[in-house]
Amino acid sequence: MIVRERWFENDIDDYDEEVTREKDYQPIKVWLNRPSFELTKLVKQDHHQLDEFLGQFRELKGKNRNEAMKLFLSFKAEAEKHIEWEEKIIFPMFEEHTGMYHTGPTQAMRTEHRMILEMLKGLADAILHSKTRTDELAETLIEKRLMELFKVHEQKEEEILYPWIDSALWQSEKEVAMAATEACHGV
Ligand SMILES: [Fe+2]
Ligand SMILES: [Fe+2]
Repeated sequence: MIVRERWFENDIDDYDEEVTREKDYQPIKVWLNRPSFELTKLVKQDHHQLDEFLGQFRELKGKNRNEAMKLFLSFKAEAEKHIEWEEKIIFPMFEEHTGMYHTGPTQAMRTEHRMILEMLKGLADAILHSKTRTDELAETLIEKRLMELFKVHEQKEEEILYPWIDSALWQSEKEVAMAATEACHGV
């Protein structure tokens, strides 16, 4: 289970005063003026833990195939929950603020999510059923592509999308997002 605690602390100074302003205040100015922190920080933690999970799987697979398989399935479940959290909770809030429902950064991330989910499924099948040397090579290839896509995807979210989301959302919305996060992660 990915731990999500204390992420809301330590970083709220004069932010609440800003929250009291009208919502239809010129959006771009509000984005530029607001501090950028909580969700970016949270998502970095999540990404880091997912990366570690994947790294452990790769280390283990040459030593203990059964354990590696279990670890991969846990990683897959966590990655799917992370994507679900982004798509069902975070992205819609951003889209509502910006009006970018069908184009823009969240749509690009949703497209990459579909690719990641396909690769996770493909890799799970490959791991569960690989018997021959050719199967193993196919597995390694999917794994490599998944890692590359994961890296690029995380970088885009951490450096561009989440700082933007942090600037666009109100503090109260982030609190709602946090509460919903727990439901999404089954804790
Ligand atoms: Fe994502
Ligand atoms: Fe993410």
